[in-house]
Amino acid sequence: MTDTKKDILVLGIESSCDETAAAVVKNGREVLSNVISSQIALHTQFGGVVPELASRKHIEKIDQVITEALAQAGVTLEQIDVIGVTSGPGLVGALLVGVAEGKALAWAARKPLVGVHHIEGHVCANFIAHPDLEPPFLCLIVSGGHTHLVRMKDYGEFEIIGRARDDAAGEAFDKVARSIGLGYPGGPKVDRAARDGDPHAYEFPRADVEGAPYDFSFSGVKSAVLNELNRLRMQGEEPVTADVAASFQKAVVDVLVDKTMAAARDLGEKKVALAGGVAANSALRAAMQEACDRTGVTCYYPPLILCTDNAAMIASAGYYEWCKGRTSGWDLNAIPNLALGKKVGETGGRKQG
Ligand code: KG4
Ligand code: ZN
Repeated sequence: MTDTKKDILVLGIESSCDETAAAVVKNGREVLSNVISSQIALHTQFGGVVPELASRKHIEKIDQVITEALAQAGVTLEQIDVIGVTSGPGLVGALLVGVAEGKALAWAARKPLVGVHHIEGHVCANFIAHPDLEPPFLCLIVSGGHTHLVRMKDYGEFEIIGRARDDAAGEAFDKVARSIGLGYPGGPKVDRAARDGDPHAYEFPRADVEGAPYDFSFSGVKSAVLNELNRLRMQGEEPVTADVAASFQKAVVDVLVDKTMAAARDLGEKKVALAGGVAANSALRAAMQEACDRTGVTCYYPPLILCTDNAAMIASAGYYEWCKGRTSGWDLNAIPNLALGKKVGETGGRKQG
């Protein structure tokens, strides 16, 4: 008989973009350690993430970060049951560092390896933050590269309800931040600047996608901001940064909240979760909470540290994938444009090692 009561420790590894991270999570929900080495200082001088530099920095840091994650959790690699690693989507060179490391550790320590979809990891941050949260629920995933509205039907089972047709929400934040001189990383800087601004100072568009009520388009609002800045500058006026930030942010948040709440209403969902880096946005959290409270829906979002990239969320997703019997083979590869809902490197029961 299998020992179903045994605690399962997952070592999570994340290196898809500009954070080198490792974490140990028990039974998918309890964080024993969560170590993040941020590359913000490195990329700031270039105004954005430089992929080649990101890869090199991951190589430099990854061993140290994993050693620290194990030490903080008070466990050895031998005591780890499963290794979960982000294998896509993300920057290919950056992903490869984590994937190679995960494979090497799993091989050496004879542990099962689970390739994790980064976006599924973001959703799982909510399982860590809310022990009572169980699928099904509606989840708005808003990160630097993705804007998805999904119905999480079960652990690891997504139904995509809506998606961005052009720029992801985080991408729009980053581009607007650059255009108003706030620089990288854009989202948090716009969030901060917007606190002192008037969200009604400028009227920026809220785009709908014809025939797809839950799809998003943020390139229009981004262009509208750029056009307004050009118009003002041509008239010799300096735009008020805080007002532009607040008005832009409100336009994006209004659309995210309206579409999510429309989907919740139409699908009869009583639970809504936020996930991804943009879920750290204070205006989005407040507006979604308020809309949910008004309509009797329970709103969930992770604490800030679990919204942006981290390995605890990857360990959690790795745990639920492993519970479903989905492990990866030694041929696990980094897939930069891995689609959501596509299972990564599944062995279909093939034995490793
Ligand atoms: O999930 P994440 O850390 O990395 C990706 O998987 O992309 O998301 C990063 C994105 C960036 O675009 C960043 O500007 C945005 O999340 N972000 C924010 C905030 N914090 C991070 N956007 C708006 N407000 C924030 N407070
Ligand atoms: Zn992310």
